[in-house]
Amino acid sequence: MKKLIAGNWKMNGLASSLAEIEALKGVTGEAACDIVVCPPFTLIEKAVARTEGSAIAVGAQDCHAQASGAYTGDVSAEMLAEIGARFVILGHSERRSAYREMDAAVAGKAVAVHRAGLASIICVGETREERDEGRAIDVVRAQLEASIPNTATSTNTTIAYEPVWAIGTGLVPTLEQIEEMHSSIRQMLKERMGGDGQHVRILYGGSVKAQNAKAIFGVSNVDGALVGGASLKASEFTGIILAAV
Ligand code: PGA
Repeated sequence: MKKLIAGNWKMNGLASSLAEIEALKGVTGEAACDIVVCPPFTLIEKAVARTEGSAIAVGAQDCHAQASGAYTGDVSAEMLAEIGARFVILGHSERRSAYREMDAAVAGKAVAVHRAGLASIICVGETREERDEGRAIDVVRAQLEASIPNTATSTNTTIAYEPVWAIGTGLVPTLEQIEEMHSSIRQMLKERMGGDGQHVRILYGGSVKAQNAKAIFGVSNVDGALVGGASLKASEFTGIILAAV
């Protein structure tokens, strides 16, 4: 399966940061993977224009489940599609914790993303406490069951496993822990989606850097990465992209 390397800029980046996306164009010829950068809403349209004709896709970090209406401050999947976004990250742990986004809400947003013809990157992951209690596999399975809508296919859906305790901390699970979790997610996807579940990409996310990417990409059922901090600078992100062979 061709790997997907996705950059999540979170609430970072002004127009001057677009040079970092543009610099990635130089690497796409060498890259053996799909690349998507998800800047803040304000930069999406500009990022699309600056990457036109290249292999770099642009995505968003969230959207509303409705196409339009009285939802002050929100942005719909249709609006994102209109400005050229192709992916939407959903259910990131920062949204689950800061905005109390529940699995059902994530599933509703994924339906909207698919309705608009875009692809969803659905995030799941356990807390430190849940892992220490031996519940990581069960927690992630329950999140997946309730966050993946029936509209999901291997073409419009990617899963990102991001242990909450590994995000932005420099901590990374062992390769064995990643393998165990990704194989459990694969199993669940096959039960849920039949043969198509075999083709859904499962990304690992949480403190991925150029240094550790190669080892992580060598783990079975790791089909790419969702990268936060290390996606902000083209020099670092390029190292991760080139590790995905
Ligand atoms: P990080 O963030 O790479 O900075 O740990 C990953 C994410 O939140 O998607």
